[in-house]
Amino acid sequence: MSFDVAATSYQRFMGRFSEPLADAFVRLADLERGRRALDVGCGPGALTARLAAVVGEGAVAAVDPSEPFVRALHERLPAVDVHRAPAEDLPFSDGDFDAVLAQLVVHFMADPVAGLREMGRVAARDAWVAACVWDHEGGTGPLAAFWQAVHDVDPGAPDESGLAGTREGHLAELFSEAGFTRIDAGALTVEVAFPTFDAWWEPFTLGVGPAGSYVAGLDADGVAAVRESCRARLPDAPFTLTATAWTTRARAGL
Ligand SMILES: C[S@@+](CC[C@H](N)C(=O)[O-])C[C@H]1O[C@@H](n2cnc3c(N)ncnc32)[C@H](O)[C@@H]1O
Repeated sequence: MSFDVAATSYQRFMGRFSEPLADAFVRLADLERGRRALDVGCGPGALTARLAAVVGEGAVAAVDPSEPFVRALHERLPAVDVHRAPAEDLPFSDGDFDAVLAQLVVHFMADPVAGLREMGRVAARDAWVAACVWDHEGGTGPLAAFWQAVHDVDPGAPDESGLAGTREGHLAELFSEAGFTRIDAGALTVEVAFPTFDAWWEPFTLGVGPAGSYVAGLDADGVAAVRESCRARLPDAPFTLTATAWTTRARAGL
């Protein structure tokens, strides 16, 4: 799986879902102007931009291990304090932030519990630490039609349903393992409209994330088979897809 891809490719593939998700997710942080916020696994900045709109660009920091995403975020929001770093090793002091958020990141962390614990370390006492992850296990995430179509063609293909936090309740379990006690779980759903089948399909060929890596590993016949399988599963265009993410937030400090 790779996020060492152009930010424009990411935006076309996942940004179309993560940008509207960020509109809702940012509200879980209960922030106001002047507070300091950290976006962990910021990508090209869907959530970072919403945090900047609430607290002011100069009051936001962001990290991501992907070099092209860090560069893209710096171009998009030059006053944000952005670093190339993983959640598990944040380059900040204890208690630096009034909210610490990770949108669609926990399932990609090498060690999700260590990442959440580290997010708690850099949060001020009683600040919200929040995360969300698509419902890949329950089949209501944005890639559900794709993975179902893949399994119609290749029943043994790997998918994202076993990743951390993608089943109901698992994010809260991970927060608990990371030492949080005041935990609040929920879900958010977004709707995205597609004018044509190709508008939906084409970004799957850009090599982004596990789905893009899967397509990139197929030969031409394999790509054509998955594409037609997807077409058979989706409604006639234009169509609208809904995508649901599990959310969990917890107060920092015991
Ligand atoms: C699905 S993208 C989400 C990006 C952005 N938060 C959004 O909502 O559009 C997952 C991001 O997690 C980043 N990532 C992967 N492993 C990470 C880790 N251990 N710590 C922090 N971020 C990580 C990737 O580089 C990628 O930018």
